[in-house]
Amino acid sequence: MSTHRIAVIAGDGIGKEVMPEGLRVLRAAAARFGLQLEFTTFAWANCDYYREHGQMMPADWFDQLKGFDAIYFGAVGWPDAVPDHISLWGSLIKFRREFDQYVNLRPVRLMPGVPCPLAGKKPGDIDFYVVRENTEGEYSAVGGRLFEHTERELVLQEAVFTRKGVDRILQFAFELARSRPKKHLTSATKSNGIAISMPYWDERVKAMAAHYPDVRWDQYHVDILAARFVLSPERFDVVVASNLFGDILSDLGPACAGTIGIAPSANLNPERTLPSLFEPVHGSAPDIYGQNIANPVAMVWSGAMMLDFLGKGDARYVQAHDAIMHAIETVLVQGPRTPDMGGTASTTEMGMAIAALL
Ligand code: NAD
Ligand code: IPM
Ligand code: MN
Repeated sequence: MSTHRIAVIAGDGIGKEVMPEGLRVLRAAAARFGLQLEFTTFAWANCDYYREHGQMMPADWFDQLKGFDAIYFGAVGWPDAVPDHISLWGSLIKFRREFDQYVNLRPVRLMPGVPCPLAGKKPGDIDFYVVRENTEGEYSAVGGRLFEHTERELVLQEAVFTRKGVDRILQFAFELARSRPKKHLTSATKSNGIAISMPYWDERVKAMAAHYPDVRWDQYHVDILAARFVLSPERFDVVVASNLFGDILSDLGPACAGTIGIAPSANLNPERTLPSLFEPVHGSAPDIYGQNIANPVAMVWSGAMMLDFLGKGDARYVQAHDAIMHAIETVLVQGPRTPDMGGTASTTEMGMAIAALL
């Protein structure tokens, strides 16, 4: 298989600390399995760049990135310096929307060696995917603000649900459910309170389900679904949700499975006409930045997801993915571990330990 070109964007905060560990592990895997990975680092899409240039990215960012096979992304956001909606809508959310990465695939797994905050759960009990719609829904730029700073002030923010946008995420989720042993899909709804978009979402789920008679499916209002994540996570397999519901559930899930420091995600353009983006679920964590104590596993696991996607079934890529996952599991069990997992190791020590197993 030919060379894969990967754009590297570390971003802000701990994005800058976990990225070197992600790259260390990917380079070790590439050397061991004979993969040709070519990394190109971009020093924009971060808040320092914004402070210098008044924008998060150069005007030609799309052209600079569109030819890459994937984007490996740390985290963006430094709210003390740049308001979050400016830094995120100026970078990550732009990538998702402009590169049509409409699937945000977020595995939730209780890994061996990770202390679980839910009583009595063991690895295997929590093992599901959140499939999050990633380009529309509640994350819209449609709306406005009138009569600013007066008593009549009015703020309107629309949610956008298109037939194409809803159907394609549902189809991806049903296909994923079909490929898994349990063949079970759960839809997150809120059609009791959000009385226009969510009944529409439910209607499309029902229509899609008719094409997948082999997939068992159910739906829950997102409030009780959140409770069920905590009370009975073992009953989930594939959970499909709108953009905002998926965002919330994909922090809750990993917290139930121990730490958000290990949770990865794949922002996929399944058609592969534009680059997909692989990043931790977590953010730039200003509260721990600069101490070299961030857990690098989410970044590393996201790298494994990237290889899986790029390899399209090529045996060497599958082996590289599996070897990285095995190395992660080994280190989670044996240590060294970062403080979020009760250890005392640094980001670098944990990354090096994973890379050393490859
Ligand atoms: P956060 O995920 O950055 O941090 C939440 C908590 O989890 C913090 O206590 C943090 O220390 C801890 N944490 C996160 N990652 C960790 C890791 N790898 N190891 C150990 N502990 C970890 O969320 P936040 O505080 O809401 O956001 C901080 C900034 O990051 C904001 O600017 C926000 O907008 C941004 N953000 C960016 C992304 C992204 O780029 N994908 C995602 C979420 C938040
Ligand atoms: C995530 C993040 C982003 C989101 C923020 C930083 C805009 O929380 O990737 O989950 O809401 O999608
Ligand atoms: Mn989030």
